[in-house]
Amino acid sequence: MQAVSPSLSWSGHNQDLSSDTEGLKNCLLGFDSPVFAVREKANIRLSNSGELTSSNGKTSNLSGWLPPLPIGKFGDPSFCLTYGTRASYYAGGMANAIASEEMVIALAGQGLMGSFGSGGLSMERVLKAIKTIQAEIPDGPYLFNLLHNPFEPEMEQRTVEIYLENQVRTVEAAAYVRLTPAVVQYRAAGLSRGHSGEIYIENRIIAKISRREIALLFLHSAPDIILEELVKVGKISGEQAELAKHVPMADDITVEADSGGHTDNQPLVSLLPSIIALRDQVQKENSFSRPVRIGAGGGISTPDSALAAYMMGAAYIVTGSVNQACVESGASEHTRRILAQADMADVTMAPSADMFEMGARVQVLKKGSLFPMRAQKLYDLYTTHNSIEEIPASVKAELENKVFNRTMEEIWQETREFFTNRNPEQIAKAEQNPKKKMALIFRWYLGLSSRWSRDGVEDRKMDYQIWCGPSMGAFNEWVRGTYLEDFKNRHVADVAWQLLKGCAYRYRVQSLRLQGVSLPQEIEAYFPEPQK
Ligand SMILES: Cc1cc2nc3c(=O)[nH]c(=O)nc-3n(C[C@H](O)[C@H](O)[C@H](O)COP(=O)(O)O)c2cc1C
Repeated sequence: MQAVSPSLSWSGHNQDLSSDTEGLKNCLLGFDSPVFAVREKANIRLSNSGELTSSNGKTSNLSGWLPPLPIGKFGDPSFCLTYGTRASYYAGGMANAIASEEMVIALAGQGLMGSFGSGGLSMERVLKAIKTIQAEIPDGPYLFNLLHNPFEPEMEQRTVEIYLENQVRTVEAAAYVRLTPAVVQYRAAGLSRGHSGEIYIENRIIAKISRREIALLFLHSAPDIILEELVKVGKISGEQAELAKHVPMADDITVEADSGGHTDNQPLVSLLPSIIALRDQVQKENSFSRPVRIGAGGGISTPDSALAAYMMGAAYIVTGSVNQACVESGASEHTRRILAQADMADVTMAPSADMFEMGARVQVLKKGSLFPMRAQKLYDLYTTHNSIEEIPASVKAELENKVFNRTMEEIWQETREFFTNRNPEQIAKAEQNPKKKMALIFRWYLGLSSRWSRDGVEDRKMDYQIWCGPSMGAFNEWVRGTYLEDFKNRHVADVAWQLLKGCAYRYRVQSLRLQGVSLPQEIEAYFPEPQK
């Protein structure tokens, strides 16, 4: 790589040039100023001041230079404008209010956005979160998770109604395998025509996907057939249905690679460029006035992974696992402590509670928990038997005594009570179908195990289901030996800004390297230090 033009030199005060470790680091961290790399014999010195001048035929003293780089500048600036954030970044929803009100409010306090983890909560609990968040940060930024629920579509519908009734203006739509009337209603009900004819979008959707075919659903406009039905039942107006044909279903699509929780374990380096190209193709065919932005999540937890995602064209980045170990997380202290000790390889895939029968899997922490092994055993029993009665008596007794700590009959009674108010149809189906009944009994364990982890239930520690991706281990490795090694010092907004600061720092190191400037190895990496 060619160094800067030899016709350019640096001129400034020699005392402003740094060559010691601390001085070099501080120059790179002076993001609001340019960086000049000045050659002095065999050494490189850096300065944030001075100016570029003509070499006037003399040998240039300049090895490289970088313009100012405000740390929130990565990604697409329209993301920040749309959502009112200071960086193109958001913290993804984590079910059971692990992405808690405190987390969303703390992020907003530092100019960042978080998605409240509404999955698995009652409507009353979601409503409480809306009230709290809106009272604390009425102008945002915040968003709420909206999960597709193929088994209980009425839950998804009710969630949308609560969001609409309470003016929740941005949702993070996830787990979709098809578009539903509920998510289309959310989008279309917020459309109107502005004074000069432009379409005004009040209800924003950030759709989280890991497959091309699902990305396509959100890159296109809502399907006519769903819009017509919504008009017929009076959920949207004819004008809104018409406007919905001219805007994509989503404003943003988060491409989710290998992450904590539900994941297809795809590598970000393969998936992100593929979805960006798909967006370009759909945009070319449709010429929407605002192309869908494509962001990246899954595996992002260090300055280098953040930088890689932005450099591949991510309009914004999303984190999850790292936030679960933070002080504001809804997870119990025990869970946060073991998360902060996890290595990258301490995760594994296990059967998921919500789509158990379909064989869906989630990524969880395997260190310190027997959950992954026990859940797998339940799934294996489910696929090889047609009813609880078919399971050999010794296996059943072992499950009851060692795993469930109660009899299957007791679990069935609890399950019946749970579904009686929420969804009695499930019970009716299970009473007709012994395999379904077995699934509901096993799902009792899978469903509760994530709550035990969240609530820190003492005698269930070995059964904690802790959703977690390899990004957790990568983060722990990065912050080892710094103040962030202790999980009690991890604050969600600080973690985010440290990541973004490290990302900008690494960008500067790499950019200087591309100009032929090699810096001492000890200053190449960025390690977090407490903010002054
Ligand atoms: C504990 C935990 C719970 C999660 N729950 C949800 C959820 O309910 N809804 C959702 O859309 N994504 C959920 N996710 C995914 C995150 O929002 C985020 O997209 C993902 O964690 C990013 O990848 P990472 O874990 O590698 O950072 C969850 C992730 C974790 C770690």
